[in-house]
Formats: sequence, C-alpha cells, structure tokens
Amino acid sequence: MQEQARRAARAVDGAGQWDRLARLGAIGAIPGGGVCRLALTAEDMAARRLMLEWAAELDLEPATDAFGNLFLRLPGTRPEAPPVVSGSHLDTQPHGGRFDGAYGVVAALEAVRAMRKAGLTPRRPVDVVAWTNEEGSRFPPGTMGSMVFTGLTDLAHAAAIVDRDGVALGDALPAFLAATPDLPLRPFGTPMAAYVEAHIEQGPVLEAADEQVGVVTGIQGSRWFQVSVRGEDAHAGTTPPALRRDALRQACSMVDALHQVFDNGDDRVRFTVGRFDVDPGSPNTIAGGVDFTIDFRHPESAVIHALSVRVAPTCQGHAGPCGVSVRELRDVPPVSFDLDVIRLIDDMAAGLGYRYRRMNSGAGHDAEHLAHVCPTGMVFVPCRGGRSHTVTEDARPEDLAAGTAVLAASLTALSEAS
Ligand code: GLV
Ligand code: MN
Ligand code: MN
Repeated sequence: MQEQARRAARAVDGAGQWDRLARLGAIGAIPGGGVCRLALTAEDMAARRLMLEWAAELDLEPATDAFGNLFLRLPGTRPEAPPVVSGSHLDTQPHGGRFDGAYGVVAALEAVRAMRKAGLTPRRPVDVVAWTNEEGSRFPPGTMGSMVFTGLTDLAHAAAIVDRDGVALGDALPAFLAATPDLPLRPFGTPMAAYVEAHIEQGPVLEAADEQVGVVTGIQGSRWFQVSVRGEDAHAGTTPPALRRDALRQACSMVDALHQVFDNGDDRVRFTVGRFDVDPGSPNTIAGGVDFTIDFRHPESAVIHALSVRVAPTCQGHAGPCGVSVRELRDVPPVSFDLDVIRLIDDMAAGLGYRYRRMNSGAGHDAEHLAHVCPTGMVFVPCRGGRSHTVTEDARPEDLAAGTAVLAASLTALSEAS
C-alpha cells in the first residue's frame, strides 16, 4: 500500500464525519430518528446549501449540471485530467434514514478533507458528487441524476415525470437550481477517470459476520413497472355486483397473482409492490382507478427476463371487467464493477487491517450507471440489523470511519494513477 494512501486514511476524522451526518440528518428530520428529504424539495435544497457551505470551508470548487447534480472539486496538479469522483445522494425515502446516501456524500467530503490534512495534492482532481433524485420516491424511477449524466435517459424525458401532486420534475428543477445560484455549469457526460461510492450495506451480511468493510463486486439488476387499472366510479350502496367495475378489487387480485408468480422458491427474487394509489379513495365510492408499482430485482438477467415477461399477462388475466395497462419505468441489468478497482479496494482494506469481504449489492446505486462510463467500485459498511429505507436505519461511527478510511486511501491511489 502506498504511503500517501495510508496517510490519507490516517487523517480521516470519524468524529467530524459523524457530526456532519448529524447536521444533514437534522434537515427533514422526522419522528423516530429518520429523515424525509424528498428530491427537489425545500429540504433537498437546504442539504445542498449545507454541502456548499462545507465546500467553501474546505476550499473546494463547486459546479453543477443542468439536472442539479452537484460536484465539489479538490484540484489536482493536472487540472486538465479527468477527475476521480466519489459521492452518493442527499435525497431520502419518505420514511428514510440518516445514512442512505448521506453517508456516501459525507464520506467523500471527509476523504478529500483528509487528503488535504495529510498534505497531499493529488495529480488528478478529486470530485465529491451528490447525484439528484437517487431514490425516485417522489419522481420515479431512482438513480435518475446519474442516468441523465451518463446519457442513459435524457433531460426532456426526466422533466416530464410527474409527482403524486401533479408537479412535473421539469417544473421543480428550476427552483432547485436557483437555490444555489452562480455555480459553473458542467456538461453531461464530462469524462471521469474513476468512480468509487461509499454506502451503508442496507442488508444484514457484514454485521452478522462481524466485518467492517464490504468490497462491492457489482449490483443486481432491477426492473420497475407501473400498472394502471381502470374501472368506473360508482355508488357503494346501490351498485349490484354484476354492474361493478371495481378497479381496487381487480388490482388486489393482480397483486396476489403476481406474488404467486414471483414466489417461485428462488430465495434471491426480490419482488415488491410499494405504492398503491386508489382513486378517488372514498369509503362509499367503488374505486374507478388504481395505480400500483412493481420493483423487481435479481442478480441474473435470464431470471429477470423470464419473470418480467409474466407481469403484463398476469395483470391482464386478473383484470375482470376493468382495463389494465403496464408501463415499464426502469430496466437496469445486473452490473459488474471494474476488477482493478475491486482489487485496489481489497488491498486498501487489507492494508489498513480491516475485516472485509467481497459482496454483491442488493440495493441500487448511482454506481450502476457510472460503471458504464469509467472504472467503478463501491465500499460498503455495516448498518444495524441490516435495516434501511426506514427511520430505524442506524450505523456505528467507527464503522463509518473505517469505510471512509478505505475510501480515502482508494481515492488517493486512483488520483495518483496515470
Ligand atoms: C435504492 O434506494 C434502491 O432502491 O435500491
Ligand atoms: Mn442510497
Ligand atoms: Mn435508498
């Protein structure tokens, strides 16, 4: 392990990082210790402004792009060289925790602070990034900022997505950008030399094995669908069964049938109906409309394909007197990270004396898109009980510090590489 990488790792300030996470966690804090900081809301803007305050304190150079992805640069001795990039996201789930996303952004900030503290000036610039709308809770689907940045989806398509209140993403974005004015605008697709994202594991493996660091080898594939069931509003007290076109009844039948298809004995299948919107949602009106979402994940493309093709026929088979349409919101195949980056992170974890293992990610991350444009890897740290996407999400400061030490060492090594 290079001496410089070791010095950067040693300069990581776990207490300072913990304090920053607490300050971010106060923005959008909700009962139970959680955070609700949905994408492009006032809370998301406040988190972004706090990042810019910290960037100014650390003398980092801020920039943004037309989707609000935020970049904070530690300059290198070769300013023209594509940067090494690290970060995650500041938006959360509606009942989110303090670490999903926030940890990766704060860890990257702490890593560049540590590099400075250790007296290092990297050859390549090192950029801290906060990707916009990673969660996709308000504007589905998730990981949208990195999809737009890498060209997997275009800005016009993203701008047309509407939240539950009918607000289009394209109408929420200008206020978000204006909340942090005068930032230089970086074009989408600006080249990167490498990308490493730190994140809590969001699953139980590391904690159960009493390991401090996960070296992530890739991310399982995921597909999201939106199912729209259309019947007819009618009076609950007067309409006899034969005349009803009850969208809620048919939607329940579809969800039940889908569970039977996806509960196929393969323990690796992840199938979730997480949103179910009933229109008009009145106790004494038969519901004329239901929209629900499907989030389906698996590590193997063939399995994803074989089960996904059954979604529409299953819904149609249970539509009864209603109409149904199925629209795909997201199709992200499984991705493998760069072997050299994986080996580098292995070496840093081993060199720093941490207990670590290689592992695949069950959760999605912006890294899954960056992997298509530059060598990419991820560093996981344990979280309590493997819990995430809940207000009870928790992690230990010493584990977060260990992950950041591995991150700082990895970024230092990557920023020195030619
Ligand atoms: C990220 O939040 C995911 O849904 O995996
Ligand atoms: Mn996340
Ligand atoms: Mn998440």
